[in-house]
Amino acid sequence: MSNKPRILIVGAYGQVGRELQRSFADAGEIITRDRDTVDLAVPDQVRAMIRDTTPGIILNASAYTAVDRAESEPDVALAVNATAPGILAEEALRTGALLVHYSTDYVFDGSKASPWVETDKPHPLNVYGATKLAGEEAIQKVGGKYLIFRTSWVYGPHGNNFLLTMLRLGRERDALSIVDDQIGAPTTSIELANATRAIVSGALAGQFGAAESWAALYHMTCGGSVSWCGFAKAIFARAGALLQGKAPVVKPIPTAEYPTPAKRPLNSLLSNERLNTRFGVQLSSWETALDGVMRQLAD
Ligand SMILES: NC(=O)c1ccc[n+]([C@@H]2O[C@H](COP(=O)([O-])OP(=O)(O)OC[C@H]3O[C@@H](n4cnc5c(N)ncnc54)[C@H](OP(=O)(O)O)[C@@H]3O)[C@@H](O)[C@H]2O)c1
Repeated sequence: MSNKPRILIVGAYGQVGRELQRSFADAGEIITRDRDTVDLAVPDQVRAMIRDTTPGIILNASAYTAVDRAESEPDVALAVNATAPGILAEEALRTGALLVHYSTDYVFDGSKASPWVETDKPHPLNVYGATKLAGEEAIQKVGGKYLIFRTSWVYGPHGNNFLLTMLRLGRERDALSIVDDQIGAPTTSIELANATRAIVSGALAGQFGAAESWAALYHMTCGGSVSWCGFAKAIFARAGALLQGKAPVVKPIPTAEYPTPAKRPLNSLLSNERLNTRFGVQLSSWETALDGVMRQLAD
């Protein structure tokens, strides 16, 4: 990026927000916002945040991500996941800023036999997925310079995620039953942030042509596929000293044996072909990305 822009990271201390702070550190003036400084469920606060900070780039890593809790708090989830992104898009259009937003595999119902593509019809099974879909639609309706990256099974060295939960449970228990019939691509916050930086830098440098030709929705996940159970086994196989001498037995179970308030899709795999073709960007395989996070945790 040539003339250094002001970059607002919303949800700056969530999993992806933290990594965006790292990957964009030398890209401009970084301004961070999180729950301590703004309540994204309050529309006036969302608009005031943009008017006060006047960013050239808005990286929205915030979301109401408590998938099961969203079933009983649909209004808050909708405000954060749909109303707030719509306001960010309006403000970005007004000022000419670029808005980057993340969405989820949970916009799909999981019924397809092959990876989902961007043109597949969404059909969310739960409130979280429905509110995230409404957020995508709100941004697309406003238009302007935006990038929406749908991703899946996000984890990393910080925050609430499957990897850190497995490591904790693995130290506490001798055996764990893990769902084996939901498949997806575990994707690290690190890979997401690095790919976002590469694409944003290229887009603002004019490498991909005019904004009208790249402003769109893209799938962005690590490569390959695995079930939650397979992912847990891969984590334990790499965990070494992080398990403090424990070696938990992992038992595969069907989703039916692990009921949750929110339903989840069986097939969460997203095709990254559009991302690869448009930007020449490909994330690492989930195994390589997992190796990287495990190394960070071990250090
Ligand atoms: N996690 C996944 O498996 C997954 C999968 C697919 C897509 N995604 C998408 O990827 C993006 C990043 O997810 P992530 O895993 O990094 O999420 P995360 O770790 O849960 O971070 C979300 C951030 O948003 C903040 N936030 C939520 N409600 C807020 C409010 N009312 N006011 C101010 N801040 C608020 C949270 O603050 P608090 O911590 O204080 O609540 C948190 O810092 C999201 O768009 C998410 O939907 C995630």
